[in-house]
Amino acid sequence: MQPKMVLAHETTDFATFAADVRAGLSKPIGKKELPSKYLYDTIGSKLFEVIAELPEYGLSRADERLLREHAQEIVRRIPGDVILCELGSGSGKKTRWILEALSRRRHTYYFPIEISPAALAVCERELADIDSVGIVGLEREYLDGLLEVSARRREGQRILVLFLGSTIGNFSHPADAAFLSEIRRILQPGDALLLGTDLQKPIPQLIDAYDDPLGVTAAFNLNLLSRINRELDGGFVLAQFQHQARFNPETSSVEMHLQSLRRQSVAIAKADITVAFEQGETIWTENSHKYSQSEVASLVAAAGWTCEAQWIDQAWPFAESLLRVQNTQSFNTAKSNMK
Ligand code: AVI
Repeated sequence: MQPKMVLAHETTDFATFAADVRAGLSKPIGKKELPSKYLYDTIGSKLFEVIAELPEYGLSRADERLLREHAQEIVRRIPGDVILCELGSGSGKKTRWILEALSRRRHTYYFPIEISPAALAVCERELADIDSVGIVGLEREYLDGLLEVSARRREGQRILVLFLGSTIGNFSHPADAAFLSEIRRILQPGDALLLGTDLQKPIPQLIDAYDDPLGVTAAFNLNLLSRINRELDGGFVLAQFQHQARFNPETSSVEMHLQSLRRQSVAIAKADITVAFEQGETIWTENSHKYSQSEVASLVAAAGWTCEAQWIDQAWPFAESLLRVQNTQSFNTAKSNMK
């Protein structure tokens, strides 16, 4: 019998983490930043699961509602032998509906691709009860994982890639379009991408979603400093920083920052750096772009995709778009980057 889940482990790359922390925190006042992917260590991934349950953060529930309501139709549009692959699966909770619909048709392989081993382990537990599914977790960066899935496909198999939860909104422009082009370049005609994008909504609602009264999002953000303390022997005193969520109207994004409450210096031994902070200075940790519907259309077209169908959640404006590989054009394949 096949194992339900195989983890292809890679050791965490501390040298890259240290180099990224050094590069981001060496910047001058007003420019300090840290890549948002480092929010997702074991603790950060668990805190994100709690965020998804918060009444103020409707994004994950909207995403799941759309998948639950339209899974049959989505799957019907991609006939035959389909490999399901998910970029940033998290717990895999939202994927259940698509996976159940596919596995009712035939035995299906599901490849969750995650940099967080903790999230992959949760994903296995969450989906282990579905019959006729083989789960192969890949602890990889998104595109490395997708290349591996593509190399494993057999003649006649199609790949359906899920990129849910508006994670694309955590990329900066034009890295978002470049990333979608990269996915398209790896795939073949007949393959598809299901893309989730959070849509624009009133600013107070967005601020509540990213600065919830319970303080879970604050803990999620501050955990990045805690992670630096744990893994890079950093000296951050968490009480001397506070979480901030701001709406940037120029980029239509909610930005998360960590603000220094006083003038201070922080040594990070394993990144070989001492960082000086002014009082009130911030570290930018995440960009969460909010799209208009027309912007989603132009983004996917610029990246070489055809939008075959789209479903919108009315309660929490959110779009699920089913994209197909176009045949004829060639596209820019610039290296992508998440904020
Ligand atoms: C994963 N990502 C789409 C979430 C977002 O809404 O940008 C991460 C998050 N950050 C704060 N709350 C949730």
